[in-house]
Amino acid sequence: MTAKPLILPPNPTIGVFDSGFGGLTVLGALLPLIPGAKYIYLGDTARLPYGSKSRETIARYAVSSAKFLEEQGADLLCVACNTASALALPEIEQALSIPVVGVIQPGAEAARKESSRSVLVLATVATTQSHAYAEALTSLGLGVTEKACPLLVPLVEEGWIDHHVTAEVLRIYLAEAFAEAPDADTLLLGCTHYPLLQPLIERTLAQMNHPMTVIDSAAATAARVAEHFAPNHAGNPATCRFYATDSIEKFQRLGTSFLGQPLAEVHLLDLGG
Ligand code: DGL
Repeated sequence: MTAKPLILPPNPTIGVFDSGFGGLTVLGALLPLIPGAKYIYLGDTARLPYGSKSRETIARYAVSSAKFLEEQGADLLCVACNTASALALPEIEQALSIPVVGVIQPGAEAARKESSRSVLVLATVATTQSHAYAEALTSLGLGVTEKACPLLVPLVEEGWIDHHVTAEVLRIYLAEAFAEAPDADTLLLGCTHYPLLQPLIERTLAQMNHPMTVIDSAAATAARVAEHFAPNHAGNPATCRFYATDSIEKFQRLGTSFLGQPLAEVHLLDLGG
């Protein structure tokens, strides 16, 4: 459950957490919305992927990452990872004393604005097995089909966001999904890595003669985070501090394309196993 909005100071410290780089797409949506904030981003790259792990392991990893960001002075935590939001939000909320915003509910509500019938959710294995999106979308009166796409995260991590192999993998996943959900009118990107594939997904849908509205939850999640803060009229620039639990060099390189701008210095962090 998402915490009730509390109005916090206009120059807050906001913790943003993902298993890797994907959450940078959410950070990218937050920067223009809450420009005066100090952002601390943690990518738990040493323990990625979360999406193929058990609920217990995901919760343990997510709670240790979340606690680190609270210890660094975060006033609010944004769980910019669908897998951690789907499987560990209650554990994270219980472990912290600051408001926590996940991506599932904002994503489902964004889909509700677009869909009149049924939503196809592409996500990791763990997210689809949790049925967090099915619950959220059903309660909003929509039909749902959840499709696990386990090969997409490694392809994005490899930087193959416009590659013929990725296009072929997408075509196979989408054909399987359409066989189950022929009437879906909206495609929800239920993994923070997938917005990097949005142009390729839209091209593939057009080639398959199956146009759909494609939405990602980054903008909706950022808007939900912004509800917690008083507007900043001072125009202070945002500052970002980045932590990764594995290769700083890779984080810097890939992170730049996820965020859409060069990353400031990245710090290596050891959160244990
Ligand atoms: N970023 C994660 C998500 O949104 C996917 C990557 C992973 O499997 O850890 O679900």
